[in-house]
Amino acid sequence: MPVHWPGRDNFVSNSQLLKDWQIMAFIELTDISKVYRTTTAVEDINLNVEKGEFISFLGPSGCGKTTTLRMIAGFEFPNSGSINLDGEDITYLTPSKRNIGMVFQSYALFPNMTIGQNIGFGLQARKMSKAEIKQKVDEMLALVHLETHIDKYPYQLSGGQQQRIALARALAINPRVLLLDEPLSALDAKIRVELRLEIRRIQQTMGITTVYVTHDQEEAMLLSDRVVVMSQGHVEQVGSPSSIYNFPANEFVAQFVGQLNLLPVSNVNLENATCTLAGQSIKFEPAPERKLSGTPRLAIRPEELQIGAADEMNALYGRVESVLFLGAVVRLRVNVDGVMFTADIFNERQITYPRSGDDIVISFSNHSCWLI
Ligand SMILES: Nc1ncnc2c1ncn2[C@@H]1O[C@H](COP(=O)(O)OP(=O)(O)O)[C@@H](O)[C@H]1O
Ligand SMILES: [Mg+2]
Repeated sequence: MPVHWPGRDNFVSNSQLLKDWQIMAFIELTDISKVYRTTTAVEDINLNVEKGEFISFLGPSGCGKTTTLRMIAGFEFPNSGSINLDGEDITYLTPSKRNIGMVFQSYALFPNMTIGQNIGFGLQARKMSKAEIKQKVDEMLALVHLETHIDKYPYQLSGGQQQRIALARALAINPRVLLLDEPLSALDAKIRVELRLEIRRIQQTMGITTVYVTHDQEEAMLLSDRVVVMSQGHVEQVGSPSSIYNFPANEFVAQFVGQLNLLPVSNVNLENATCTLAGQSIKFEPAPERKLSGTPRLAIRPEELQIGAADEMNALYGRVESVLFLGAVVRLRVNVDGVMFTADIFNERQITYPRSGDDIVISFSNHSCWLI
């Protein structure tokens, strides 16, 4: 057997490989566009997903999330652009050659097969031996905690259990990537909350690169390393859940992720970072790189507002219009000289809430609000 000496050439190419590996993402979408007859479903999508990362596509219905996911899976081909997976161009590869696992909103289990046969289905197609299949099916059932259901049929399981099986089936083939399209939308609230934690646990245990589609911002933030906010076929912002929430790139992201007050202001002085709101002077967070167009509005999240005046804080004098008790949070609607906004305060057992009609002072820091 020839002995391989790592010569100089080898060294150079290895370091080059390492460099390529460092700059090369695991999944790379480059200038992806997809048009259906006259509808542009997605346009010029660029995205890099790192190995082991959990990425969510978040956006309203019809913004192109499913289309993008289906192009990664190979169920659709883009009209232009390319998709790379682990350095390989897979843009026009058929789904079966991609080794990607997919979970849909409708569990899509085979109704005439047992749970065991459902999970083993993709393995049989891969010509694994009976013993190997049995071992893998058992392992997957243990992963989703449904060991005792192996001989049942899908109709004998609840929706949440069926979705766990769909997840087990997708993972059984040791896919390079796991894709999930609104997998929890058909389930009721309690199961949804349980199962999303389960999905995160399994994803972290296996370290599998995952792309998750949802229109539910809470789900996206809770699950993801990074969130891709989409609107009308475009990517609006890509970032960690906290950066998306605290530093939204534009009005769409700010409005779509979380609650936001947008209040009309006048006398804007960008240099001093001051403006007037309902006749009262307000300091805001300066953002020199931002250009303002149209009517300027002050953006502030409801949880940044406090009851009562405080030193070094903006103060607004208004009247409480309504009080909503939501459990952990109490939501006030406040009228400041005809401008309505929402203030969220945390519930405490011993707290006395303001009541409708009360006059109150609302305060907030200049770092918590910005101009749009
Ligand atoms: N097979 C198709 N034929 C025609 N139009 C489609 C098809 N699939 C999706 N679209 C359109 O493309 C746009 C994006 O759809 P989709 O990716 O399903 O959005 P989302 O998953 O974000 O709700 C929508 O306007 C939708 O009507
Ligand atoms: Mg969809």
